[in-house]
This record gives sequence, C-alpha cells and structure tokens, in this order.
Amino acid sequence: MIIAVDGPAASGKGTLAKRLAAHYGLFHLDTGRTYRAVAAAMTAAGFSLDDEAAAVKTAHGLDFTRLDSPDLGSPEIGEGASRIAVIPDLRAALVARQRAFAKDAAAQGHGAVLDGRDIGTVVFPDATVKLFITASPAERARRRSLEVYGEADGPRYEALLANLRQRDERDSSRAASPLKPAADAYILDTTQMSADAAFFEATRLVDKAMKP
Ligand code: DC
Repeated sequence: MIIAVDGPAASGKGTLAKRLAAHYGLFHLDTGRTYRAVAAAMTAAGFSLDDEAAAVKTAHGLDFTRLDSPDLGSPEIGEGASRIAVIPDLRAALVARQRAFAKDAAAQGHGAVLDGRDIGTVVFPDATVKLFITASPAERARRRSLEVYGEADGPRYEALLANLRQRDERDSSRAASPLKPAADAYILDTTQMSADAAFFEATRLVDKAMKP
C-alpha cells in the first residue's frame, strides 16, 4: 500500500503524512528532505547549486537514515532544495532512491506514505490513494512563521510569504515533474481546516480507497 501526499510548501502535508503513517502502521518518507539534504551537503562541500554533476553524485551517496536533522528544516535550505529540484538527472537519481525506500518497506511487510511534489504524478503513479494538500499562500506563510519563529505574523511574515510565492512559482513552472495534482488525486484545501480535521478527512479517503 502506497499513500501519496503532495502539495506546495507549508501546506501541512508533512504533518498529515506522519500522522497517516502512524495511524496505518506504514513507513514514512518526506521526499522534500531528500532534496534538502542534497542542497545542504552541496553547500557544505562548497559546490555551486548549479553544478548538476555534483548534485547527482551527492544524491547517489545520500544517507537516508540521516534525513531527520533539524538543520534541514530552515527556509534557506528549502530555497536551495527548490533550486536544485529543477535538475532532471538529480530528480531521476532521487526518484530511484525514493522507490527503493518503498520497496524496502514492502520487503519488511510494510506499506509506505511518501510526501512531496511529484509522488502521485511521477514517483508512484499507481499509488493506492493520492492526496493533494493545499492552502492559501497567506495561511501557509502564517503556519510556517509560527513553526520557524514561534509567531504567526511577526516582522518576518512578509519575507516568508514572498519566499513561499517564489517557491510555488519555481516548483510549479519547472519543466521536470512540476508541482501539480495527479488527475486522480483527492484535493484537500486546508485553509479553513485544523490539522485534526484534515487528518480525519484524509483517513476517510484512505479508508474508502482501501475497500475492495
Ligand atoms: O517540501 P519541502 O519544502 O521540504 O521541499 C523542498 C523543495 O524540494 C521544494 O521547494 C521542491 C523540492 N521537492 C521536489 O521538487 N519534489 C519533491 N517530491 C519534494 C520536494
């Protein structure tokens, strides 16, 4: 069983994916973290984020057991991840590793929840159920501000909002696997929904998809 959870930055898809994994006893992979880890490793090694060969090599060597590092959550690394995510060969390398993660889970008798931008369209087009989580840019910036700075609308809110809009634009307009809902995805707009309400609605859709 594969649950695909896609959506723009700060839509709440990560929180939802984690809760779904715990609820159904599935492995979870936040694929945004694979792009973030490559961007962080390239920066630490002094590579330019435009260096395609270095990006691919870094992806092949990526340690998937170290994706939990809190450093990877920063807006700066998110920006770097969005920049390298336009490189088709890097995407191919990471997609292969994301599929291998789910295959590994299956070998251990588990399904998987993967969240990202292209899970339902590219990584697992045959996923058991596909959810596309979205919310207005203003609401997403408010949530991200709360998460990163502990306040919903402080002085850094406008910069966060501008950054989110820029990432939306880059993620949606790139030629390789742009951010878009799969034709058969359920779209969940969480602008007016609590995290609990979004989780409840998601389990209803997953339960429905699992019925024979
Ligand atoms: O979900 P996130 O903010 O951690 O993702 C960081 C960047 O990585 C995002 O701006 C685009 C890229 N990304 C992607 O292109 N495809 C994915 N499946 C996941 C993330």
